[in-house]
Amino acid sequence: MNSRVLEFDSLVTSRRAVRAFLPTPVPKTLISEILDIARLAPSNSNIQPWNVHVLTGEPKQALSALLMAAHNDPHSEQLTHFPSDLGQRYRQRQELFGALFYGLHQVDKCDTGARARVSGLNFEFFGAPVGLIFTIDSNLKKYSWVDYGIFLQTLMLSAQARGLATCPQVSFARFQNLIGDFLHLDDGQEIVCGMSLGYADDNALLNSLRMPRAPTEELARFIGFDQ
Ligand SMILES: Cc1cc2nc3c(=O)[nH]c(=O)nc-3n(C[C@H](O)[C@H](O)[C@H](O)COP(=O)(O)O)c2cc1C
Repeated sequence: MNSRVLEFDSLVTSRRAVRAFLPTPVPKTLISEILDIARLAPSNSNIQPWNVHVLTGEPKQALSALLMAAHNDPHSEQLTHFPSDLGQRYRQRQELFGALFYGLHQVDKCDTGARARVSGLNFEFFGAPVGLIFTIDSNLKKYSWVDYGIFLQTLMLSAQARGLATCPQVSFARFQNLIGDFLHLDDGQEIVCGMSLGYADDNALLNSLRMPRAPTEELARFIGFDQ
């Protein structure tokens, strides 16, 4: 295999969702460099439907404090991530994720208090020095959300290539109004997700999680090939 292929494959296979970061700051120039590559992601009719809000220092801490208070409020809004009829194929994968994730935290999946403590770590951006919030015009259709996914992966690989780690986080979509007010978002902007960005703490047990993937035969059909 040529070195380009090896480098690309190694970039993709070494990326993972990191949930424990070092406090080492990330210079603004480096974040701009990462975004300069991410913005090259393709989009339908080239509309580039992404808006990125990059927080660090006191504003990031202030947002985290508000989110933690809301998270700990039993009356606050909840986010339904999936339909109730998820189906066995996805349900099994989700359950495996839960077993590995909460197993690592030594949390019983029936212990709702402990689970809430663990999920609350999301709102502290897992200790990362940089928090990103991604928004989209809410009148756009699902095709533009496809664009967004491509943008996010390009951003994560751009960060990974520069020795930085990320965790994409849908958890932030739970607090649309709170985050919208905090960031003074224009009307009609919807939060897609957040992301933690920084240097991984390679000694943290939390970062030892390796999520399995289904084999290619499970997701692809080859039609019209000889064999
Ligand atoms: C759109 C999206 C939203 C996610 N939201 C969260 C989240 O809110 N909290 C979290 O800890 N991980 C979140 N993840 C990370 C996934 O759990 C992780 O990508 C998946 O388990 C595969 O593991 P890997 O990224 O380490 O390969 C999210 C990933 C994606 C792509």
